Amino acid sequence: KQRVLTGITTTGTPHLGNYVGAIRPAIEASQNSDIDSFFFLADYHALIKCQDPKLVHQSTMEIAATWLALGLDTDNTMFYRQSDIREIPELTWMLNCVCGKGLMNRAHAYKGAVDANTANGEDADKAITMGLFNYPILMAADIVMFGAHKVPVGKDQIQHVEMARDIAQRFNHIYASKKQPILTLPEYEVGDDVAILQGLDGRKMSKSYGNTIPLFLTEKQLQKHINKIQTNLLEPGEAKDPDGSTVFQIWQAFANKEQVAEMRQAFAEGIGWGDAKKRLFALINEEIGEARERYNDLLTRPQDIEAELQKGAAKARIQSQRMMDTVRQAVGIYGLK
Ligand code: TYM
Repeated sequence: KQRVLTGITTTGTPHLGNYVGAIRPAIEASQNSDIDSFFFLADYHALIKCQDPKLVHQSTMEIAATWLALGLDTDNTMFYRQSDIREIPELTWMLNCVCGKGLMNRAHAYKGAVDANTANGEDADKAITMGLFNYPILMAADIVMFGAHKVPVGKDQIQHVEMARDIAQRFNHIYASKKQPILTLPEYEVGDDVAILQGLDGRKMSKSYGNTIPLFLTEKQLQKHINKIQTNLLEPGEAKDPDGSTVFQIWQAFANKEQVAEMRQAFAEGIGWGDAKKRLFALINEEIGEARERYNDLLTRPQDIEAELQKGAAKARIQSQRMMDTVRQAVGIYGLK
């Protein structure tokens, strides 16, 4: 069976970008009984960006509640918290020892940080932790631990999945026979119509840019956020170009084909921004309104969320322990039975 795996970092509250780029396609795909799905909360990854323990924990609960509220079937999928799988940091170390430093030098999160420091005239490594530098190796361990074939991600994560593939290949080259590889080489999967969703300012919607629209705002707050989407200065009645517009881009992510055509027409006819934003609100609200209620209810019952995570961890660890046994044998770290 095909194994499909993806994770979401537990910093902040899930936003429309995470929903459209990762959560929605993942839940849809998991309804297909020909695949085994693995979804997890990447809380070790969160420590790279966030050193506020309360926030890390809060975000983990919120993201778990998000997946559950959106209807994830936890009986037929693996849904777990990364830090409950103690084998993951262990495998990360093994992979550290086969991964060339040069590969990590090219990772764009790290390179971006170095470039920013250099541009500011600072020391190149200022405020860069080993956690950030090693981030793709931890991600590789997440992926190969469960033998994932496909990793659905947004475009920003493609490089990391390619690195996971390189690292797995390197490990196999050293420790496995050609006929019987130990680690499965993963492939990324980026949905055709799931481009990077734009945020309020037109850049990629991202927690780090502070331009997000959180997924489960109250109706009032959701409309308020949508109203903040930047638009050009065209007045009602002036024809607008849909393809440069964030309002239209987000519309496309929620609309069916007919609705896309309708909005395109409305733009050509010069729909006012206020009007377009009201329609966008209604469209999004219709899709997520019921899930929002379930989400708010779940957050009042953290023990129920925890129970789901424990159930997932118990299932996942059966597989991760088996994988670690194989890997330990392969590298020569084991005791006599
Ligand atoms: P993270 O938490 O930044 O994002 C989670 C997923 O959401 C996608 N995404 C977006 N898609 C479309 N538009 C956007 N504006 C947008 N913002 C985010 C991301 O591409 C991602 O798919 N390192 C990963 C988490 C991770 C992981 C893994 C993923 C850890 N281990 C193993 C896959 C496999 C991350 O930080 O994603």
